[in-house]
Formats: sequence, structure tokens, C-alpha cells
Amino acid sequence: MPVTVFGSANADLVFPVESLPAPGHTVLGGPWRALPGGKGANQAVAAARDGAAVRFAGAVGRDPMASIALSALRAAGADLSAVAERDAPTGAACICVDSAGRNQIAVSLGANALARAAQVPPLVPGEVVLMQMEVPPDENAALIRRARAEGALPVLNLAPAAPMEPGALRALHLLIANEHEAAWLAAALGCPASAAGLRAALGVTVAVTLGEAGAEAAGEGGHWRVSAFPARAVDTTGAGDAWCGVLAAALSRGVSLEAAMRRASAAAALSCTRPGAAEAMPMAAETEVLLGVG
Ligand code: RIB
Ligand code: NA
Repeated sequence: MPVTVFGSANADLVFPVESLPAPGHTVLGGPWRALPGGKGANQAVAAARDGAAVRFAGAVGRDPMASIALSALRAAGADLSAVAERDAPTGAACICVDSAGRNQIAVSLGANALARAAQVPPLVPGEVVLMQMEVPPDENAALIRRARAEGALPVLNLAPAAPMEPGALRALHLLIANEHEAAWLAAALGCPASAAGLRAALGVTVAVTLGEAGAEAAGEGGHWRVSAFPARAVDTTGAGDAWCGVLAAALSRGVSLEAAMRRASAAAALSCTRPGAAEAMPMAAETEVLLGVG
């Protein structure tokens, strides 16, 4: 089954710094680089490198940043025929990465704000449709409904956390959030900030990533917990995207949610050991070595 990703593509301007700047402070960094990023593109690259046939739909500007934003997708062989060019600057992120691999990110959505669900061609029944929150939430809601109507499996990564129509969330096949996004959504829904709490409130399967504490999920078949793989982090940017993209690729192959979560956790750990976001996504064979099945 193919995987369709609807989401953002950014040019990431990455500044290596000793320590992250505090408000009002200036820090001097090492050589900056312009790298492919954006949560949508990162997740699509992760899924493609994990072996999925990936179609990416999103929007870029008519500027030189567009080719940077799409470069990793192109190299990974993703189908880019549903990418639109808009009269707005390509999305960009300003990313400071400190010597412990921690980051601080500001994103300017630019053309991503003009991505439309209607760009996505007809879906194949059973295919995974993966979304994040760097495109308009109403477009995600429209695509979730369409995916349901066309027999596809809509999966939303609520990153960064932003209001979403509850009816659309209830139509998901799977909701993925990190612990901060889960806490934000739980406060909005008035439920416990756990996978089980969100599952009870929304009636859909929910996976919550917990950083170094691994990940948990709650769904119809029960409750699952997987541990994180240890990693010597040089740059954690895009680790959540590695998790989501590889999870989607594994689910599209019919793998169980628990096994898909283990694979996603291994891929996320590997992505932290390399600089950059999209370019740090591991190949399937590398993930399998870490999983002990390679
Ligand atoms: O999740 C990491 C991504 O967030 C970066 O690549 C940056 O572009 C922002 O969208
Ligand atoms: Na990385």
C-alpha cells in the first residue's frame, strides 16, 4: 500500500551554537547550513527510506528555497506531482542546535499556509494518509473526511499543537502526539493527558511519544508501551518526524501497531545521531540492524 503525506516542506536554516540563545541575548554560532525540512517532508522522507511508495502533497513558493525544501523528497524518490507552486515564499525554519543536540525552532509557514486538501489525488482504499499541523487545520479536516469516504486510513500528527475540529479528530484512524501536544489536547478536551485518556475522549486510537521514555498507545485492541532506543544525540530535529513517517510506512505494510511503534522508535533514535532533519532519516536496513532483525 502507498503512503500519502499531506503537509509542509521547509528550508531549514540550521545554526550550530554552544548554548541556545535566551531572550534578548545574541550567541555566535558555527557555519550555518540550509537543509531540507518541514514536518510533512521529513515524515515523507522517513516513510520512503523505510521502503514505502510515498506521494507527497504540499505547497512551495516560486523561489530558490523551494528546491532546497524538496531536495530530500526528490532524492528519496517520492512522487511530487501533487506539489503546488504558490505566490508566497517557501516555508522556512530558523533552527539553533546546541552542543547537546537540543534545538530551538521558529517556523515561517509561507506557502505551506496555501496547501489545499484538493491537491491530493484520489486515495487508494487501505492506504495511509499522514498529516501534521504546519498546513491549515481546516484542510487537514477536509482530507480526514475524504480519506474516510475513500476507504483510506487518516493519521494525524498533532505537531505543532493547534485547535482542530473535534469531529475531524474523531474520524481519525490514529492520532499521534508528543507528551506536550498530548497535554495541550487533553486540557482542551478536559481528559487525562495519556494515550488512554485521549482515546476515551475521542474514541480513536492514540499514540503518545514520550522522548527518552519511549511511547505508549491506546486503542480498541488494548494498550501498548515501547521503550526508546539509546542514542548519542547530535541533533534531535525531526526525531518525531522519523517516528511518524516510519510508523506510517510500517502500518501500510500491515504490521501491528506495537511492532510499528518499536520500528518507529528505532528509526527516531537513529535520526538523532545525525545532523539535519530530512537528511537524517535512516534506511530500512539501518533501522532493522538496531531492531536486531537485520
Ligand atoms: O519537526 C522538525 C521540523 O519542524 C523542521 O524540519 C522544521 O522545518 C520544522 O517544521
Ligand atoms: Na537529526
